[in-house]
Amino acid sequence: MEGKLGFGALILFCFIAILATQVDGALASFFPRKSASSSSPPDGICASSVIIHGYKCQELQVTTKDGYILSLQRIPQGRAEVGGSGANKKQPVIIQHGLIVDGLTWLINGPEQNLPLILADNGYDVWIANTRGTSYSRRHVSLDPSTPAYWNWSWDELVSYDLPAVFDYVYSQTGQKINYVGHSLGTLIALASFSEGNLVNQLKSAALLSPIAYLSHMKTALGVVAAKSFVGEITTILGVAEFNPKGNEPQATSTKTMVHLAQTVRRGILSKFNYERPDYNLMHYGEELPPIYNLSNIPHNLPLFISYGGQDALSDVLDVGNLLDILRSHDVDKLSVQFVKNYAHADFIMGFNAKDIVYNAVLAFFKRQFA
Ligand SMILES: *[C@@H]1O[C@H](CO)[C@@H](O)[C@H](O)[C@H]1NC(C)=O
Ligand SMILES: *[C@@H]1O[C@H](CO)[C@@H](O)[C@H](O)[C@H]1NC(C)=O
Repeated sequence: MEGKLGFGALILFCFIAILATQVDGALASFFPRKSASSSSPPDGICASSVIIHGYKCQELQVTTKDGYILSLQRIPQGRAEVGGSGANKKQPVIIQHGLIVDGLTWLINGPEQNLPLILADNGYDVWIANTRGTSYSRRHVSLDPSTPAYWNWSWDELVSYDLPAVFDYVYSQTGQKINYVGHSLGTLIALASFSEGNLVNQLKSAALLSPIAYLSHMKTALGVVAAKSFVGEITTILGVAEFNPKGNEPQATSTKTMVHLAQTVRRGILSKFNYERPDYNLMHYGEELPPIYNLSNIPHNLPLFISYGGQDALSDVLDVGNLLDILRSHDVDKLSVQFVKNYAHADFIMGFNAKDIVYNAVLAFFKRQFA
């Protein structure tokens, strides 16, 4: 039992190691800051990282259909704007973070350099999402995060519950079609949703930074070996729990999410969580194998922007190539692709020149959708 737990942790640490080795020290300064605010942060993200820079910011909550209470920050206007009614006519942007981080990560760079505040200053109504289990999204209508039942989800639930809850809320508040920006896991869950025809009616366009959909070429050998060998046993023996190693302050996620990602590494296809037992799969899906997310079914006229890096160990160039191959029948004028040769996974959220290289391209992509 302990051995299996060790392997599970190993996979997690591989993912963390990839993230940590990819950020040129930015994360090192980030983790100590985070650890000061470990379990129940006194101030929200608005207070700590937005209002202090002179922007308006609202802390909001959204409850998913399965009872998770998610925190959401809205930055309705740019710093220079006066008055409060401008948000109604603006286009909303939902910003969705990746694996083992939360919405705060987008705000680590200074106000002139980080994506949410740049978008606000460029006239967008910005909404920062925080997935279940992260520091500011740890409440549930009935479950306690100290119990396994709270952590009984994989990224399938982010697809079926978290994203729709946030989209429905933003759409209901703004009445406008939504632009989406996802990083890492935030791209995977979006692509999976779009492939099932979900969210697309509320969506104007999507920018996918450091996309992960296929993980076969992920570069950390240890991570791949661990994922390939042990995933089945972890699933059935370890069951469900929170991954949140003490003294090492990434955001929590569920064991099932890590196992689910490891399954993608192992099989090279994108499917729902595999219970690794035909009878369990049959019980959950009515089939002995989990249903696949068929990315060919993403509407071909959906405006997509994809930016990927040449030094990204998680979103490997070959795996992105695989994704682009799947998207080859996408309408040519609806797909923009940017390749940043020297960029690693976390550079897309905290690279010192992310504004010049990536965010300006995202802004240009959004602007093209007005035409
Ligand atoms: C997790 O949810 C499944 C139903 O999807 C249920 O069969 C199982 O008992 C749950 N496990 C825990 C620990 O809550
Ligand atoms: C995915 O969908 C495409 C087009 O709808 C279809 O041709 C293809 O066979 C599907 N792939 C799988 C693995 O089901």
